[in-house]
This record gives sequence, structure tokens and C-alpha cells, in this order.
Amino acid sequence: MLIKRPKGWELPERAATPEAIYHGRRTFLAGLPAMLLATQLPGIARAADADPSAALYPVKPNPKYGLDRPITPEKLATTYNNFYEFGSHKEIWREAQDRLKLRPWTVKLDGMVEKPIEIGFDDLLKQMPLEERLYRHRCVEAWSMAVPWSGFPLAALVAFAKPLGGAKYVEMKTFMDVKMAPAQRQSWYPWPYTEGLTIEEATNELAFIATGLYGKPIPAQSGAPLRLAVPWKYGFKSVKSIVSFSFTDKRPKTFWEEIQGREYGFWANVNPEVPHPRWSQATERVLGAMERVPTQIYNGYGEYVAGLYADKKGEKLFM
Ligand code: MTE
Repeated sequence: MLIKRPKGWELPERAATPEAIYHGRRTFLAGLPAMLLATQLPGIARAADADPSAALYPVKPNPKYGLDRPITPEKLATTYNNFYEFGSHKEIWREAQDRLKLRPWTVKLDGMVEKPIEIGFDDLLKQMPLEERLYRHRCVEAWSMAVPWSGFPLAALVAFAKPLGGAKYVEMKTFMDVKMAPAQRQSWYPWPYTEGLTIEEATNELAFIATGLYGKPIPAQSGAPLRLAVPWKYGFKSVKSIVSFSFTDKRPKTFWEEIQGREYGFWANVNPEVPHPRWSQATERVLGAMERVPTQIYNGYGEYVAGLYADKKGEKLFM
């Protein structure tokens, strides 16, 4: 029997942004504070409305992390998503909001640590230094956005976990629950979604755990209640809805690497000069904008991260 398997990684570049979104949104909301954007869009954040962490937001902006471009309108950033647990198309936002159960949410910190920890998400949040940062986000499919994340540096979580000296990597996993996310029944994907960073990357000042977006708790479709944001890497590294951080001395095998390692490697740093095997990475389509813009090496964050790779010359750093 012929089984037709949807191969998400075979998405052609032209399919990355639907024409309706690309042509229909001419106005930028440049410079508008996140709060103002948030109040204009009551329908988008249904899951956020009932969120017990809502009173913590908005958090103080950290002016160090600014943008060279307008903030993407909230409606675009939260209705055009990749979250394969809820489908391999871009319009999963309603499905994710309806199905993703956000509480109770327990986070595990284990592996090579002084003592394994299991902690409720809201208790964890109380112990972390919250701030807002404006980051660019570049998907490997050659679209991009620029958003105000709220959350805390991943370095703060690493310090909280107290890894042992021999730990070299941190492996992060999304929940596994086929009732909540029926797409996890698709056995050709290596669920749960898994990602990894070196300890040096995880403790770099840019590595961020996002718990909020546009001055409110992060909505389900964007990776609630906590997701990674590593803006110098392609978006698939930024794992959503994390339940565990495991410290290890072995390089984790990541979700996309396992599916198609030739196209999606462990490092996945943004580089306009290294094309994806099936499309160019030289430019990107900014959600809501009319023109494509040139992509920058390390997505423009080289001053923070280029030094991390100085001793890794033999590695495929950009795939
Ligand atoms: N995390 C999980 N658990 N599942 C996913 O399908 N998709 C990744 C990443 N994190 C994904 C994920 C990809 S390919 C991208 S580009 C970003 O999430 C998209 O984030 P956004 O929807 O907030 O733009």
C-alpha cells in the first residue's frame, strides 16, 4: 500500500509565506510599544487570557537588544507559525490554542547536574530575572520576523540547574502527548521535538528562554509556556513548549537532524552564503513587508556569537 508521507522539510521557498499575507499587509506598526500592540488584538491570545502568569507582564525592556527594522505586527507573528505537533502547515494557531494544556506544567532539569530538579513552571518563573528583548528570528525557509520576547537568559536557568563540570551540552525536549497533539502519532517524525546547544552557546548572553510575547504570556502557538530563542541560528533550533533540560557530555541528536541531517545540522547558524541544498539563503522575506531583505551572517548577531565558533573550523557550522 502506498502511504503518502507529508515531508515538511521539502517546503519550497515560495511556499514559505502565503501570498495573501505577503501582499495584504502593507503597514508596519514600527516603533509601537508592545503593550499598545497587545491591546489592539484581543482575539489572538485566548490561551494567554487565563494564564496564571499574566500579572507578571509586561516586563522591563532591556534596551541593549534592539532592532534594525520594525516590529512584526502581532497578528502576523502569532498566526503564521511552525509547530509540527499541531500540523505541518503554517495555520496551526487555533489548533494549538485549543489543544495545548498549559497547566500544570513541570520542567525537569536533569542529567549531569548536582541534583536533578523538577519544578512547576510558575515557581520557576518567580526565580528567574524577567526582561523584554527585541530579537530578529530567521527561519530556514527564508522568512523572518522581529518580535518582543519576554523571558529570561538561558544562562540563568543553567546556573539554577548547577551542571557538573563534565557537561558539554544541554538537550531540550518538547512535551510528548498524542492526545494533546495528535500529529505526534505520525511515526515518521522522531518525536518528541528535541534540540541542543553547547554549554558555551547556552550561556551566551543572547540565548533566551521566552515566556512572553508582545507584553503578555507567550501564546500556545508560539511555544507556551516556555520556548528557546537563539536568534543567530535558524528558527528550527528554537524548540517550543519545553519540558526538560538535560545536561550531557554527548552531542544530542536533534529532531530535524534525524529527519534530514544533510539539510538541517546541529549547528544551524545563519549564513547567507551557505545555501540550503534546495534554495538560497541570501535574502529573506520579512513577514508583512513588501521587499525581501539581505540575510546577515549569524542573522546580524556576529558580535555576540562569532567567537563561540573560532575553534570549530572542521564543523558544518552553517547547516
Ligand atoms: N518547536 C517544536 N516543538 N515544534 C516545531 O515544529 N518548529 C521550529 C521552532 N520550534 C517547531 C519548534 C521552527 S521550524 C521554527 S521556524 C520556529 O519554531 C517557529 O517559531 P514561530 O512559530 O514562533 O515563528
